Amino acid sequence: MEKLTVRVNPAYNVLLESGLLRQAGVLTAQAVRGRHVMIVTDDGVAPLYLDAARTSFASAGFTVDSFVFPQGESHKTLQTIEALLNAADEAGITRSDLFAALGGGLTGDLAGLAAALYLRGVDFVQIPTSLLAMVDASVGGKTAVNLPSGKNLCGAFYQPRLVVCDPDTLNTLSPALYAEGMAEVIKYGAICDGALLSRIARGEDMTAIIADCIRIKGEIVCQDEHDHGQRQLLNLGHTFGHALEKLNGYAIYHGEGVAVGMLIAAFAAERHGLCEAGVYAELQSMLAAQKLPVSTAFAAREIAANAMNDKKRKGDSLTLVLPTRRGKSALHILPARELASFIACCDGEVTAV
Ligand code: GLY
Repeated sequence: MEKLTVRVNPAYNVLLESGLLRQAGVLTAQAVRGRHVMIVTDDGVAPLYLDAARTSFASAGFTVDSFVFPQGESHKTLQTIEALLNAADEAGITRSDLFAALGGGLTGDLAGLAAALYLRGVDFVQIPTSLLAMVDASVGGKTAVNLPSGKNLCGAFYQPRLVVCDPDTLNTLSPALYAEGMAEVIKYGAICDGALLSRIARGEDMTAIIADCIRIKGEIVCQDEHDHGQRQLLNLGHTFGHALEKLNGYAIYHGEGVAVGMLIAAFAAERHGLCEAGVYAELQSMLAAQKLPVSTAFAAREIAANAMNDKKRKGDSLTLVLPTRRGKSALHILPARELASFIACCDGEVTAV
């Protein structure tokens, strides 16, 4: 079993092994003191894994309740949080009990925020079942729901007590959901690990690649838990990706937005002389190999207008993450009014004319 420790306060482990869902209860019992769990999942994951999770927790001595909400970004709202909080209250979850997020990144974000709010904070554990959630969303304590004006605009930093990753759950992902996770995997290579890019391209063992992504994420989170500095590197492709998700009415996957967002960042960085040549072409070919989108029907000016409401905006400036060379990205502060002209060069290549 891979055991990676995220050294925040308090530190917690991310465990990764085939078949680990069956041990989620016993592993959680070693990490928390409560013995009443509210499993939070959506109606797509529930038929696949809720019974297994319930059995695992019950056989480890937990009283088990569950809250199942409708799948989809339109349910990542304060209304769903309120329903979950009421369900926890009705189930008699106390301050020493816990929530368990079973599912993708959306479920982890939502359950984590509810755990931060319920009784001013109860423990929670993450049991990610998507590739994207395993390599990114379940680690690091970012929790959030959407507001009508944008994605993840209402949230909190709230770390889990444990993350249990069972790569077997990836077998039930649709090709598109698996691919969106690969966009985040490729992101790690692009921000800090050229060798990882080569290993992905060679199609090396995915469990080892997932472990490396978690290791990178954990190291960055330890250095900058609250996203004031280096953690922002993890947002490569996200400023434009979130804008694309919004422009598409959330009908594209997060990782699909990130894929095109990374290409906008790479292409613009190369054109402005901020990145060595070849980075854009390699990323484009790697993302295309995963059958991820490599262009969008929206023009740069539309994407820039929608990126203005990005969380990363500080007053009149935006912190962009731009590749600088193969396996290396850096933060780049840009006056918000210059964003549209900065990415206008992408029109006709990544973005539409
Ligand atoms: N998903 C980016 C972060 O956790 O900072």
